Amino acid sequence: ASTLVLATATLIEGCDTSVSPVTQPKQFDRRLAIPPLARSSVDSDGTRVFRLVAQEGRTELLPGLTTTTWGFNGSYLGPTLRARRGERVAIEVTNGLAEPTTVHWHGMHLPARMDGGPHQPVAPGSTWRPTWTIDQPAATLWYHPHPHGQTEKHVYRGLGGLFLLDDPSAEVEGLPSNYGVDDVPVIVQDKKFHRDGRLDDEDDGNEVGLLGSTVVVNGTYAPYHEVTTERVRLRLLNASTARTYAFGFDDDRSFLLVGTDGGLLAAPYETKRIRLSPGERAEIVVTMEPQSVVHLRSYEPDLGSVAAPFAFGGNDSFDVLELRAARVLAPSPPVPGVLARLPEPDVPPGGRVTRRFVLQDRQINGKRMDMERIDEVVPVGVPEVWEVRNDDLVPHNFHVHDVQFRVLTIDDQPPPPELAGRKDTIYLEPRRDYRIALKFEDYVDADFPLMYHCHLLLHEDEGLMGQFVVVSGDSTTRAVDPNDVAR
Ligand code: C2O
Ligand code: CU
Repeated sequence: ASTLVLATATLIEGCDTSVSPVTQPKQFDRRLAIPPLARSSVDSDGTRVFRLVAQEGRTELLPGLTTTTWGFNGSYLGPTLRARRGERVAIEVTNGLAEPTTVHWHGMHLPARMDGGPHQPVAPGSTWRPTWTIDQPAATLWYHPHPHGQTEKHVYRGLGGLFLLDDPSAEVEGLPSNYGVDDVPVIVQDKKFHRDGRLDDEDDGNEVGLLGSTVVVNGTYAPYHEVTTERVRLRLLNASTARTYAFGFDDDRSFLLVGTDGGLLAAPYETKRIRLSPGERAEIVVTMEPQSVVHLRSYEPDLGSVAAPFAFGGNDSFDVLELRAARVLAPSPPVPGVLARLPEPDVPPGGRVTRRFVLQDRQINGKRMDMERIDEVVPVGVPEVWEVRNDDLVPHNFHVHDVQFRVLTIDDQPPPPELAGRKDTIYLEPRRDYRIALKFEDYVDADFPLMYHCHLLLHEDEGLMGQFVVVSGDSTTRAVDPNDVAR
């Protein structure tokens, strides 16, 4: 324990603790912007085609000031893409910026060459057109740039959007689903500004990356949303580059957690808090009384045994979004007790660990990201268990491309209900072992890597990322030996 204290002291000394806490607006008096649903056209072969143009623009993020920002098809964030399971989609991504970027479909199961990672830069003025068939349950996914070493800035400047998936074969009656009315996107980001309104995207040397003292939702400062129904579903996305939130309501009411990263939970889980680290999503349903006003609040998140939570975007509570209920609320059906079929995760014989990943100091298993190095070769269709650990005292999380995984254990204990569903990103409390079950299916490409990484974007940019390829089972170049797990 004494070495821990010592390490902690050095850590605090070594980092900038001058990060200002979030300042909550005095009044929530600006109507919450709802990202428009993207328009699409259907090709002769039935493919649904979307168009995204990354561009620079000017946005009034702070009242009365203009900020130069980036967005898709607009000046900040992007439209909400929406498609159905079974549908073939194509997305024409045009880069209208002066530098290369990429667009990654976070949470999507797709061929590696459609994934939009760091190997797929779109040059200024050019267009990239990935296409794939949606084959996964209904979920709140999102898209954002992933350029090598530049992801933090591109996301921070405003590039990102939701990608909602519907599954007509597993429609759930009773969940609020009127987009922008009782099914509301809530994209939460913190920003810091210069006095003249310019975004301050300089890293100030703290351990986690860019932390701002101003929070915007869907790009709206001091937002309110008018609620007209008894129940409202909020699709929460932490699209911040570094900050972790623990969402709840200012009167401490409970709500129903109905979905996580990759889709609906088996059953609603009543709770008062949901912690979301960068990249994670949660769908919650809250019940409102007529004429009431409640605030979605971020409480101090429990980051695990980290040294100085304040310096890591942890140590404060603030309101994020005001919900204003109308005088008369239209009735909403009750949320059903069963939401989805969530099969037991598939695991290797005996549940043994296939691979182990230790995150420490911008390295995974002692290696920094190298675009030229494939770190793992994974056989398609074979269940695996990955053991993931944050060996630092600063926060990290873990995201894997192409797959939705399931948390089996955290330090040998079963996961809490909010981590029991389909996940693609999990917060890693320091010095705990997370075992996750995953299986890569359908797509094989021995020559094109996918990524796993910390989704605190500065960490990702600085090398806390690795690459894997999915190969056909019989051409696996590496035997899966439990004694051979990377340390
Ligand atoms: Cu949301 Cu590899 O990213
Ligand atoms: Cu990290």
